[in-house]
Amino acid sequence: MNDKAANGVSRRKFLKGTAAAAGVSAAASIVPVRFAIAGTAKVKLGILLPYSGTYAMLGNSITDALKLRIAQAGGKLGGRAVEYVRIDSEMSVPKAPQNTKKLADKDKVDFIVGPVHSGIAQVMAKILGPRSTPIMIVPNAGSNVVTGPLCSPNIFRTSFTNWQPAYPGGQVMAKDGHKRAITIAWKYSAGRQMMAAGREAFEKAGGNVIKNIEVPFPKVEFQANLSEIAALKPDAVFAFFSGGGAVKFVKDYDAAGIRKTIPLYGPGFLTEGVSKAQGAAAEGIRTTLHYSADLDNAANRAFRAAYEKATGKAANVFAVQGYDTGSLLIKAMAAVGGDTGATADLVKAMEGAEFPESPRGHWKMSKAHNPIQDIYLREVHGGKQQLQGVAAKALADPARGCRMA
Ligand code: PHB
Repeated sequence: MNDKAANGVSRRKFLKGTAAAAGVSAAASIVPVRFAIAGTAKVKLGILLPYSGTYAMLGNSITDALKLRIAQAGGKLGGRAVEYVRIDSEMSVPKAPQNTKKLADKDKVDFIVGPVHSGIAQVMAKILGPRSTPIMIVPNAGSNVVTGPLCSPNIFRTSFTNWQPAYPGGQVMAKDGHKRAITIAWKYSAGRQMMAAGREAFEKAGGNVIKNIEVPFPKVEFQANLSEIAALKPDAVFAFFSGGGAVKFVKDYDAAGIRKTIPLYGPGFLTEGVSKAQGAAAEGIRTTLHYSADLDNAANRAFRAAYEKATGKAANVFAVQGYDTGSLLIKAMAAVGGDTGATADLVKAMEGAEFPESPRGHWKMSKAHNPIQDIYLREVHGGKQQLQGVAAKALADPARGCRMA
């Protein structure tokens, strides 16, 4: 075919015209056809988080802050509007395979944000890790295994590993002069991994864990356990509970009359996002976490004000993790100009992600795809977290068993 068509319209002009008619901009002619077609469609963001039960507050905080962050960026990722496809995980490990496959295979989402629960995270990682898409971003679940033996190019985390806040917690408990401790947590991978990390650090520093108590998840009947703790009279107790369960445990612990004589320690989830409900029962609890509400940086102040305005609630670590998940998506999608098909480049952008101004302070992605971040020591006073200092600077998870690390 000649460049000049019979009717006198040049071929180049004709092609330009049809592209415009199809709603594709002239600039799109330089991007791959695959993306030129998909580029105007919405980005599909699958979300698998708990909206019921003991972790409902966590799922809601993550979702609200993720949406807030994307709204702050004009509601778009790489120039494309976003469609949220949301499933309540119900914290159910047995339902995790069908929920994951629904999002990946039926809804064909571009990204899956989730979960909160370590057991579900392991199931999801086993299904999604061997594939190249969708990209999974974990906005909470700390399972060491997900960024350890199950680590994969398409699995990222914006939160923590269970080891990360717990290990410095054990060190703090020893530094405070305690020698004999009891550990108590829900009986599943998150509790087990956090108690093991806290114990490892505590015993390395000369302490001794005299008993490890496991409570079936998500049960909140603690009376028998608290009687046993009172009878054994340890110097301190190291605990993991979160959400609704943390409220009940801290209140029961105080009601048992041992809060002042046997001080409570643990990863900061014990007092995070639940201060109003715990009230005076949480006074004096010392915890370690990758966030403190009173961190004195401009990004944290702006984030807390925006979150409170949007939701009417005070922000917490779960909201920070949702917010930073939004920031990671914004950064990666900008790097590929919205082309979700450019998986290798998306992964590369996420691997190089560094956030000098997160509400939690500076963090960057490790080789195993988990944040390298500061762990803070906090103490509750008057219903508020008070920052005591940095318990561990730029702490990276050891990523044991990850072939990428
Ligand atoms: C987890 O299951 O990994 C988990 C759940 C709640 C938390 C922290 C970790 O607050």
